[in-house]
Amino acid sequence: MTVATAPARTLRIGPIELDAPVVLAPMAGITNTAFRRLCREYGAGLYVSEMITTRALVERNQTTMRLIRHHESESLRSIQLYGVDPRTVADAVRMLVAEDRADHIDMNFGCPVPKVTRKGGEQALPWKLDLFRGIVTEAVRAAGPIPVTVKMRKGIDDDHLTYLEAARIAEDAGVAAIALHARTASQFYSGHADWAAIAALKEAVTGVPVLGNGDIWSAEDAQADDG
Ligand SMILES: Cc1cc2nc3c(=O)[nH]c(=O)nc-3n(C[C@H](O)[C@H](O)[C@H](O)COP(=O)(O)O)c2cc1C
Repeated sequence: MTVATAPARTLRIGPIELDAPVVLAPMAGITNTAFRRLCREYGAGLYVSEMITTRALVERNQTTMRLIRHHESESLRSIQLYGVDPRTVADAVRMLVAEDRADHIDMNFGCPVPKVTRKGGEQALPWKLDLFRGIVTEAVRAAGPIPVTVKMRKGIDDDHLTYLEAARIAEDAGVAAIALHARTASQFYSGHADWAAIAALKEAVTGVPVLGNGDIWSAEDAQADDG
């Protein structure tokens, strides 16, 4: 789960106003339409799709086209994209918008899986600031009125922290919110999320909502002072 940093009782993501400042963290293989609808029965919020590869999307891969489909009851259609090439990302975003397939697009820069980072993608990307800027800028431009958000980690490891600089770039590029999974890529899913980093990000980013992610297991966790 991902929550808006306090003080927030609602959450505004561009033109989208959510009654609850809560986002279901995207999970490949899990946050499909059935799971999202099940979660939605418990309250308002934003329910993001599984990560979608932009290359597969522009090629209209059959599985990918199925993964981006929403049930008619999903009134807020949120799709998470991943890509390493600004032009392909822009094409994918344009396609979603032109075909009216999404109300919100999240860009994933936080996956630590080696088969992804090896290609220079995901969490390795904010380290390559120009490429990161290019991807986010192109995505926002291609999305037009559809809000684009970014989700990232703290950095590659404790010696290569990127989140503050990446957030500044993303805010400049016009994203509607910034989510931080407060672990480094080298931590994978181990250890604890560093909520002090989320607080630091909240201090640094003043123009758009900051969402904190990591180690939220219960409603009490989400409501905690450091959550
Ligand atoms: C099985 C699994 C799949 C995931 N897939 C994605 C994904 O597709 N996109 C993404 O941004 N994060 C993905 N994540 C990361 C989660 O969204 C979240 O950032 C992470 O689990 C931290 O939260 P936690 O400490 O509550 O587990 C995945 C995590 C898990 C466990």
